[in-house]
Amino acid sequence: MIFPEYRPRRLRQNEAFRRMARETILSVNDLILPLFAIGGRKVKKAIPSMPGHYQLSTDNLVKTAKEAHDIGIPAVMLFGIPDKKDPLATRAYAKNGIVQKATKALKEKFPDLVVITDVCLCQYTEHGHCGIVEGQIIDNDATLDILARIAFSHAKAGADMVAPSDMMDGRVAEIRNILDENSFSHVPIMSYAAKYCSAYYGPFRQAAHSAPQFGDRRTYQMDPANAREAIREVTMDVEEGADIIMVKPALPYLDIICRVRQEIDLPVAAYNVSGEYAMIKAAEEKGWLDGKKAMMETLTAIKRAGADMILTYFAIDAAKEL
Ligand code: PBG
Ligand code: ZN
Repeated sequence: MIFPEYRPRRLRQNEAFRRMARETILSVNDLILPLFAIGGRKVKKAIPSMPGHYQLSTDNLVKTAKEAHDIGIPAVMLFGIPDKKDPLATRAYAKNGIVQKATKALKEKFPDLVVITDVCLCQYTEHGHCGIVEGQIIDNDATLDILARIAFSHAKAGADMVAPSDMMDGRVAEIRNILDENSFSHVPIMSYAAKYCSAYYGPFRQAAHSAPQFGDRRTYQMDPANAREAIREVTMDVEEGADIIMVKPALPYLDIICRVRQEIDLPVAAYNVSGEYAMIKAAEEKGWLDGKKAMMETLTAIKRAGADMILTYFAIDAAKEL
């Protein structure tokens, strides 16, 4: 393979050749749209740091979900913003909680749209941590039972898949167990398996009112410096019964996506998080880059790294380009 016998430019000279030689094809089937559900009616409250995204009451949530469904996006990921918070996150597993109501409404309207629900405590507790707080400590084992209850209540409301994002140890087994014991053995778990403690969650925390009120999430989310540990985390979740494993965020962790893809046989999801979205949107607004091109390049890169599915706030915009 040396010049001048081999000339890589030969297969780049026109779009037909480029199409034929293309290794990675992004598809609408790869995309999952995150949505923020809030109470009330006719609410469509803009999230300033995430242009094009809103806190949506169920009526409007259904409209956005329809747009996603109509364009062929197979799944949405639901986050709830409850009207009340308390230390035990009881609104997270209430029968008439926001995610439960939104899930019912979505499944009623679009039975074949996959509804994945985020399972965590942080939006539902005043302290904003993803677990039960004892003093200044996040109590791992005390949190497991609550996570299981949340997942169970989502399944009862009709969720097609549950996605724990808390990063407590042992939660996948706990959730698998409660689902299996209650005739929900068919409900898969998408585990946020390698979730890093990231500054890129900033816009999301504004959107979901879930910022920790003291300290940070470093005792449970992963250290950005660690790659081998991601394999241990992911392997644990696989052994506990996860069906899909997620790496999050995506762009600063493409190496992790790639390694997880090589070592694990399950489908790998990558979460192109709020900060990754906000950066492109902000640069686009300033006229500093072509937002659409940056979006497609980013999503293609995440897929090229090995992601089988991509959670992204760009889902609808990207689907329109495909
Ligand atoms: C919380 C949660 C976070 C995200 C999803 N679930 C943020 C956090 O851990 O603080 C981030 C999503 C995003 O930034 O788009 N369990
Ligand atoms: Zn959380």
